[in-house]
Amino acid sequence: MKATLIDGAVIARKLLDRLRPRIAALGARGITPGLAAILVGDNAASEVYVRNKVRACSDLGLKSEVHRLGEKCTEAELITVIEKLNHDPLIHGVLLQLPLPRHLDAERTTACISAAKDVDGFSWENLGALVAGHPRLAPCTALGVMAMIEHEGIAVEGANAVVVGRSVAVGKPTALMLIARGATVTVCTSKTRDLARHTRDAEIVVVAVGKPGTVTGPMLKPGAAGFDVGINRLADGKIAGDVDFVSASAVASRITPVPGGVGRMTVAALMANTVTAAEQFLARRS
Ligand code: GUN
Repeated sequence: MKATLIDGAVIARKLLDRLRPRIAALGARGITPGLAAILVGDNAASEVYVRNKVRACSDLGLKSEVHRLGEKCTEAELITVIEKLNHDPLIHGVLLQLPLPRHLDAERTTACISAAKDVDGFSWENLGALVAGHPRLAPCTALGVMAMIEHEGIAVEGANAVVVGRSVAVGKPTALMLIARGATVTVCTSKTRDLARHTRDAEIVVVAVGKPGTVTGPMLKPGAAGFDVGINRLADGKIAGDVDFVSASAVASRITPVPGGVGRMTVAALMANTVTAAEQFLARRS
């Protein structure tokens, strides 16, 4: 079998185009959705991610701001910025770009973002809503994977799905969304013994551990759909996912490439969450 590519650029564009009438409707009510990104220190990858988010806002006509803090800023300084943005009526979404410098606690500071503006979906309130089966603002990469599954018309109800990775940002929320759609979900980690025993039984495999070659072709069930969330820089400077693309695409029916796969969806889902947050702001105000 030769897998067909699941093209993140095409699916993300469709998702973004579906936001345009919602943005126009908000505009008619005098609201431009606004996103604020907080960037602490000078992590090169974070610079690129935030630039992509700002560009996506500008392409859609959303307002965006980047708040930069120095590598040595204190937790109190960071929380002051977050609280100011929590109260800014022109900002509907706030995100704290991770990772933070080591002296800052990501969980404690992220928790200061108001749940109504938490467009990353990392707050306990928003994660709890997802666990309860009533999602509000949910983590963007997980939303992106689910949008790809839907776009491809992949049957989820009754399917066996394996999620490799248990992060709050990706693994856990993706597993919860698949459960909500009726899949039988196994969550594996980098520590799982005999990972192939699990992945070989799955029609849907999502890999998010940050280690190249975690899943290879012989570990997949023929015809499975593979979603590769990893973005790893190899020794030769090339970018690779967590799935061995060459061997996996000989066994899978469909697969996401890296780059050009799930990564595009994360930004599109962030835009969708920002629009949703602005709509909820309007609903509270009216
Ligand atoms: N760093 C890497 N991915 C993400 C993300 O989705 N959100 C935030 N806030 N930081 C990140």
